[in-house]
This record gives sequence, C-alpha cells and structure tokens, in this order.
Amino acid sequence: MSVPKYFELEDGDRLPRIGFGTWQAPPDVLEKAVDAALEAGYRHFDSARAYENEDALGRALNRWIGGDAAKRKELFVVTKLPPSGNRPESVEEYFEASRRDLGLDYIDLYLIHVPFAFEHVPGDLHPKNPDGSMKMDYSTDLVGVWKEVLKLKKSGRVRHVGVSNMNEEQLSRLCAVEKPACLQVEVHVLFQQKKLIAATKQLGIPIVAYSPLGSKALADVLAAKTGRNYPNLLELPTVLNIAKAHSRTPAQVLLRFLLQHGVACIPKSTDPTRIQQNLSVLDFELNKNEMQELAALDRGEDGRICDFMFFVGAEKHTEFPFKK
Ligand SMILES: NC(=O)c1ccc[n+]([C@@H]2O[C@H](COP(=O)([O-])OP(=O)(O)OC[C@H]3O[C@@H](n4cnc5c(N)ncnc54)[C@H](OP(=O)(O)O)[C@@H]3O)[C@@H](O)[C@H]2O)c1
Repeated sequence: MSVPKYFELEDGDRLPRIGFGTWQAPPDVLEKAVDAALEAGYRHFDSARAYENEDALGRALNRWIGGDAAKRKELFVVTKLPPSGNRPESVEEYFEASRRDLGLDYIDLYLIHVPFAFEHVPGDLHPKNPDGSMKMDYSTDLVGVWKEVLKLKKSGRVRHVGVSNMNEEQLSRLCAVEKPACLQVEVHVLFQQKKLIAATKQLGIPIVAYSPLGSKALADVLAAKTGRNYPNLLELPTVLNIAKAHSRTPAQVLLRFLLQHGVACIPKSTDPTRIQQNLSVLDFELNKNEMQELAALDRGEDGRICDFMFFVGAEKHTEFPFKK
C-alpha cells in the first residue's frame, strides 16, 4: 500500500504527512534540532505558544528561508492558540505573539490547542492556584473562539485553521460554522482512535497524530506521579519483530503503521540520527498481516497517555473533551 506524501488541502496547499514535533525541547536544543530536521528534509513543523520555544523554531526556520519567498512557501508551519487565549477577545493578542516569536509573515496552520481555557495572566501561560490546580476559565465560548480564529484566515495572516484535542460533538459544533482544516489528536498503536478517525473521514477532515511514538518523556512523568504503567511502544514485542523483519527501527514501524492507518504524524526528536530515521518511512510497506497484528494492540481509551490530568481542574470544565 503506497502512502501519499501529503494531504491535499483546500486552496491546493499540501500538508506533509510526516512533520516535526517540538514539545518539551528546550529552545537551544530545539534550534539545532530544527537545523538538522531541515537538512534531513522535513518541511512541516508543529509548534504551540504553550511550548514556550516558538522563538527558537523561528530563528532556525528564518535562517533557512534566508529571505527567499519561494523557500518560505516550501514550509508548512503550525502553531496553536494556548488555553490561556481561549476567549474571543484574546485570540488576536495570542496569535500576534506567536507570529512575532516565529518571525513569520503568515502561519500555514493555526489550531485551537484545547477546548478548555485558563485565565489570562500576563507572562504566565499555565497559571496555577496556590493548591497547584489550574486557574481555570469556565466561561468558554468555543464557537465564539472558532469564529475569531476564522477571522485570522480572512485577514491573510493564516492560510488554514484547525483544531486539536476536540471530541466528535465539539467538532460538529464547529463544523456548523466552518469545517476545520485538520484535527490534531493523540494517535498511536495503543490508542488508535478508530471511531474518531472514521467520523473525521466522513467529514473530510484530515487527522494529524501527536505522540505517535508514545511520548516517552510525558509517560515517564505521569508514571512517576500516578503509579500507572505506561508500556514503552518502542519495546513492544510485536513492534520489535516487525522492525526486525524489515531491518527498520521500531519507531519507523510505529510511524509507518500510522501512515497506512490514514493519518499524518509529527514525531519529536532532538537527535540527528533519529530525526533522519523518523522521516524515512515512505520507502517500505507493512503487509496485511503486520497491519492486523499492530491493529490488535489497540487498547482503546486505556491507551491514551496525554489525558490532561496534569492540568488539575481541567476535567471540571464543561468543554473538557475526554469524558470517560
Ligand atoms: N496538540 C497537542 O495537544 C499535542 C500534545 C502532545 C504532542 N503534540 C505534538 O506532537 C509532537 C510529538 O509528540 P510527543 O513529543 O508527545 O511524543 P513522540 O513524538 O511520540 O515521542 C517523542 C519521544 O520519543 C523519542 N524518540 C523520537 N524518535 C525516536 C526514535 N526514532 N527512536 C527512539 N526514540 C525516539 C524522543 O526522544 P529524543 O528527542 O531524544 O529522540 C522523545 O522522548 C510534539 O512534540 C508536539 O509537537 C501535540
């Protein structure tokens, strides 16, 4: 089964099915990693205001662009409205802060990061109460935020707008105004999101899979906090066996599985060798049996890693997307 290199978007733009993740990369490390990623051939970069490293990504991208408009057009740069900006009147300010830090005239794809909201506290994107819970803003008008995000597209400062971490009901509310260009959600071999993917296929909304390798750094932090066991996806016997059969790395098998599953993926790495390997997944193919073996690893909701429980209080928000 061959996999196209891109999702075709409206306006003829193309979203590369393998992108580069940037979460949890310290700015100085990220800047070097982005140089390596550009050198390796990545053109899709996933960022977010909440990652607090857009400036490092922007520096590396602008070095590579070197003022050449044609090179800028080769890139597909994504960033996200943080939870602190999820109010219609805050969208403009948070978007402009991202555009300034990235140093770009326009953003290729701007996403609403999550459907719940934090209070706006200047200089603090993750404001907390003294007891460690988040300073939540429970008054969120999600459709109102979406309408403001759509205005950014009309202004020409954003080419496409989409959403992340939304459930089917939230998607359908937003679709009633205008269909998002994509949905970015957690998808990997233990959490295959079959129902959501089928629903978005019907709606014609491409899925971008985050944490495609199981987000080991996050899983380790959550395991230490909760005592829950998070299996290492890169060490699952099925994955190791298939990797051996193809002389590929376990990460390449996990990514190839997702591409054949019909979604784009945005693995994060700051290691030059792994950066290169993660992009080299279009030149081999998993057969039907291998796809079935990997599909059988799905744990449904129990496979979810990024459940946002690290934002204490978020689960009480009426727009919290992951109701069990
Ligand atoms: N929208 C959202 O709410 C949301 C949430 C989570 C993530 N994201 C986006 O999705 C991106 C990817 O997700 P993620 O960062 O959570 O996790 P991930 O890409 O599943 O995993 C990243 C981890 O895997 C390691 N790794 C990468 N390539 C490897 C390889 N070939 N072999 C072995 N280990 C490898 C990385 O370490 P090294 O760096 O040392 O290689 C890092 O520890 C993020 O960076 C972010 O851009 C979005």
